[in-house]
Amino acid sequence: MKKFTKVLSVVLAVVLTASMLVACGSANEAGGAASGTIVFATNPEFPPFEYITTNGVLGEYDGIDMAIAKKIGEDNGAEIKMESMEFDSLLVALQNGQIDAVIAGMTVTDERKEAVDFTTPYYTATQVMIVKEDSAIATAADMADKKIAVVQGYTGETCVSELGYPYEAFKKGTECVMELVNGKCDVVVIDSATAAKYVADNAGIKIVEDNSAFASEEYAIAVAKGNTELLNKLNASIEKLLADGTISTLAVQYSEADAE
Ligand code: ARG
Repeated sequence: MKKFTKVLSVVLAVVLTASMLVACGSANEAGGAASGTIVFATNPEFPPFEYITTNGVLGEYDGIDMAIAKKIGEDNGAEIKMESMEFDSLLVALQNGQIDAVIAGMTVTDERKEAVDFTTPYYTATQVMIVKEDSAIATAADMADKKIAVVQGYTGETCVSELGYPYEAFKKGTECVMELVNGKCDVVVIDSATAAKYVADNAGIKIVEDNSAFASEEYAIAVAKGNTELLNKLNASIEKLLADGTISTLAVQYSEADAE
């Protein structure tokens, strides 16, 4: 009997502590998830993950990431707001507390991890090269004496600079592809699924892969450092959407669709 009482009080203590923690958590949380709204930001220049369209899943926004953000909202009973920014401004806005989370096909890197926290990754990608159909470029090393275009601030820029090759950086992937199509550069280095979209939309260009030069990358959602309450919610939703196949279905759907 004595033992039973002891066990019961331990159980009660655990339950009480847990409910206190929950109460504190929601009372102290600043903005965002507690108020029933999650403010996301993206840079909608990255099909099939995010692009502007007339009738998207989130207003004018559509793509794999936008559909994931919408599902996260449904899963948490939260309203989703999506803001558009330059890619380079996304993490700064997060650090300034202007937004709650960044969903932008963003690769987890050690450098970014110093500034923000990342969720469980939801997509694996790699850098690839886009070249003219008749190009002799077959490996990353073949870019050495060629004119290379990258997007400023993307991991593709980091890869090329680590290879030690000179390059020109543009604001958008579409600008790089126009340079290539117009013969002003020889190769564009960018993420695989986005490259596949550009190649599908423009005649005369193809993808060249070099898995020994480009490591695989993982995309995740970023939150402000230490925002564990939101991080936990996002992780719970992402893990569920990965486990039930929703994310892979969305990835296939948007990779095949010819939006943008
Ligand atoms: N994965 C690359 C990176 O993290 C490119 C992401 C570009 N995303 C975008 N929404 N514009 O740097």
